[in-house]
Amino acid sequence: MPDALPSSSDLFETIYTARAQRRLRPDPVPDALITRVLDAAIRAPSAGNAQNWHFVVIRDAGLRREVGALYRKASDIAAAIYQARSCPSHLTENEWQRMLTAGAHLWDHMGDAPVLLVPCLHQRDLPAPDAIDPAWRQHHEAERLYLDRIRGASIYPAVQNIILACRALGLGTLITTNHLRIEAEFKQLLGIPAEVDTFALMPIGWPEGHFGPVKRRPVAEVAHADRWSSAWPG
Ligand SMILES: Cc1cc2nc3c(=O)[nH]c(=O)nc-3n(C[C@H](O)[C@H](O)[C@H](O)COP(=O)(O)O)c2cc1C
Repeated sequence: MPDALPSSSDLFETIYTARAQRRLRPDPVPDALITRVLDAAIRAPSAGNAQNWHFVVIRDAGLRREVGALYRKASDIAAAIYQARSCPSHLTENEWQRMLTAGAHLWDHMGDAPVLLVPCLHQRDLPAPDAIDPAWRQHHEAERLYLDRIRGASIYPAVQNIILACRALGLGTLITTNHLRIEAEFKQLLGIPAEVDTFALMPIGWPEGHFGPVKRRPVAEVAHADRWSSAWPG
């Protein structure tokens, strides 16, 4: 592995311990650390290298409270859905209940995190049909569906960079998407333009608990060798 980084073990340690942190201390986080996190975010890939992203950093206490109240409102819908779900087979009942309890804690405390980060994407235009080579114009509608399908793929890599950068700096965070259930209210509160979509709401702060290790279904259960029917042997 000639190009392996000398300290790549740190990266793996970061990945393996970047647990979802829902209990955060209210102590302030220096702007310089948030800038570092954002600088990691913008290193992410995006389709066509469009870099159509924007990141709203909310520190104002009054605004955080209002955002927290909207998250609470959206969570009432999520709660009803989660009540109807059963524990996934790879989790113990205890692990499932712990996740639900931590999730419910965040419903009431989102606004208490010292920083709330909202990763957004400016919508990407599709060229008009008559700008496309006539031989390929018939694909215009399918292309629109394709663009819609991959929309989040140009911001979620940045979200993961945020998660890992926070972990590397000792900050806790997680991706949440509950607010999308009432996104219009949320965008209005933050003055986000109509042509910009929000994709996550990430509380950031110093964690109350410990990092990692993250526990997941094993590789052998989810990876396939060449064809679906054969399990990856690793
Ligand atoms: C697309 C997506 C949406 C999520 N939305 C929420 C959310 O609205 N609220 C929440 O508390 N956690 C949310 N999570 C966090 C997951 O519950 C968390 O990543 C998962 O339980 C694994 O947690 P762990 O890394 O601590 O093991 C979301 C995660 C993803 C990937």
